[in-house]
Amino acid sequence: MNVPVLNASGCLDALTAPEVAATLDAFVTKTVTPLPREGNPPPRIAEVDGWMLNSIGLQNPGIEVFSTSVLPRLQDLGVPLWVSVGGFSSSDYKTCCERLDDLDAAQVIELNLSCPNVDEAPETVVELVQASRSATSKPLYAKLSPATPDIAELARSVADAGANGLSLVNTLRGLALDQATLRPRLALGTGGASGPALRPIALACVYACANAVELPIVGIGGVMSGADVIDFIAAGASAVALGTVLFADPLSPARIRDELERARSRGYSSAVEIRRLAHGLAFASRT
Ligand SMILES: Cc1cc2nc3c(=O)[nH]c(=O)nc-3n(C[C@H](O)[C@H](O)[C@H](O)COP(=O)(O)O)c2cc1C
Repeated sequence: MNVPVLNASGCLDALTAPEVAATLDAFVTKTVTPLPREGNPPPRIAEVDGWMLNSIGLQNPGIEVFSTSVLPRLQDLGVPLWVSVGGFSSSDYKTCCERLDDLDAAQVIELNLSCPNVDEAPETVVELVQASRSATSKPLYAKLSPATPDIAELARSVADAGANGLSLVNTLRGLALDQATLRPRLALGTGGASGPALRPIALACVYACANAVELPIVGIGGVMSGADVIDFIAAGASAVALGTVLFADPLSPARIRDELERARSRGYSSAVEIRRLAHGLAFASRT
């Protein structure tokens, strides 16, 4: 079973670890915004059982510096590049998509519509997708929040607005307190929670959206092993992205591919076959 393995946005610095990034089927950049951002003050990372909390706050050099000096260096990796785009209004998303539309190096644009660490745009997720669609003909993946009340319904709406795929999911807002002082451990208070404990929540989102739309889905959230990848493919993903696992085990892409290969020898040979097990016959008949 050949499953594309990507990194999750913000979880791998390809210029610092090019040997890891080059083993991926595509490299996803950290989210870029129209203007440069320093991100939130430290501490910005905390571990709590089963979770990692971060409040990086979209630190990035801005779309212009990204386009002229970061993207050309990423091309040396020799893998397809997905550029993650974010912002605080529909015009921010439009600005970034317009700039990237001219650049052959950016194969896919992932719309970060769900960062819990920064202020939200006043427009709806659907309006942000529409604005992005009007600015580019490149494939657009909508990255959604697991905190969405009805994610299947939102998936249908972003598909209608012109998204070509879904990235499921981003982090959930969480809080960690210092046990001695009871002060928040992150400078900003709350942060985005990721890691193994997110996996069942992410799987439920993938499962629901795979039943609602025909778009390809990148499964993201607590993938730690080849067995986790099989769960995401069975739920309905067509690719997976590795996030928190890369901090603990930078060589996890190769390990997870090996584990997948061994799963094939156990008899799981195709995505359709394992989806039928997870969803039943009705789902398999339309894949
Ligand atoms: C340190 C850190 C930085 C992140 N930065 C971004 C980002 O810039 N853009 C984005 O869309 N998601 C970002 N994420 C979310 C991840 O891409 C991913 O959706 C999330 O961590 C869930 O996957 P995981 O449980 O495998 O880590 C970040 C996550 C972490 C841990």
